[in-house]
Amino acid sequence: MAVQINPSILSADFAHLADEAAAVSGADWLHVDVMDNHFVPNLTLGVPVVESLRRATDTPLDCHLMIEEPDRWAPAFVDAGAGSVTFHAEAAAAPVRLARELRAKGARAAMALKPATPVEPYEDLLPELDMLLVMTVEPGFGGQAFLDIMLPKVRRTRELIAKHGLELWLQVDGGVSAETIERCAEAGADVFVAGSAVYGAEDPAAAVRALRARAAA
Ligand code: DX5
Ligand code: ZN
Repeated sequence: MAVQINPSILSADFAHLADEAAAVSGADWLHVDVMDNHFVPNLTLGVPVVESLRRATDTPLDCHLMIEEPDRWAPAFVDAGAGSVTFHAEAAAAPVRLARELRAKGARAAMALKPATPVEPYEDLLPELDMLLVMTVEPGFGGQAFLDIMLPKVRRTRELIAKHGLELWLQVDGGVSAETIERCAEAGADVFVAGSAVYGAEDPAAAVRALRARAAA
């Protein structure tokens, strides 16, 4: 499992996104949090910002849609330049159809689970996905404390991936830091989103390198 570090621009300066993307040039993907004030109690950005960001950086974009009606909106994020689009299981009306549509448009298709959503009901859907995101905070805000109680779900998801022999990536998002990333890696995660731990650091690029080293340890 190759470790991937995806800084979340939610903790970056939105007036200088091109510079903020360049500040983490060693990152594997840029994580872009889209919130609609319905699925989560916060508002962030939409398709036009993703389009501009696509032109401003060569780092691929990992769009995390914390929105209602992802079936309607997710494909537009592929058109805007996202290389990976994550919709929430709790919000998707037809997750298989949506995942197939995203893949057909040339993007990686990913599905996210809020802390109270178990992975087991989705076991049969896993082959339709390129990545599963296990949220390690309640989605909506950066800078929240990591939920250790999610580690058993990460472990069970890794076991399901192994059981079915899938190539699926397993992402964790929320409270991932130099202090918590080893526990996530040990539980089986291989893609790590980090917002405040990267953009809150004096040297964001060094923070990415430090997280990578810890996850691989
Ligand atoms: C939270 C977002 C996260 C957030 C993580 O709802 O999905 O991507 O930016 O921020 P940190 O790493 O600060 O918890
Ligand atoms: Zn996110």
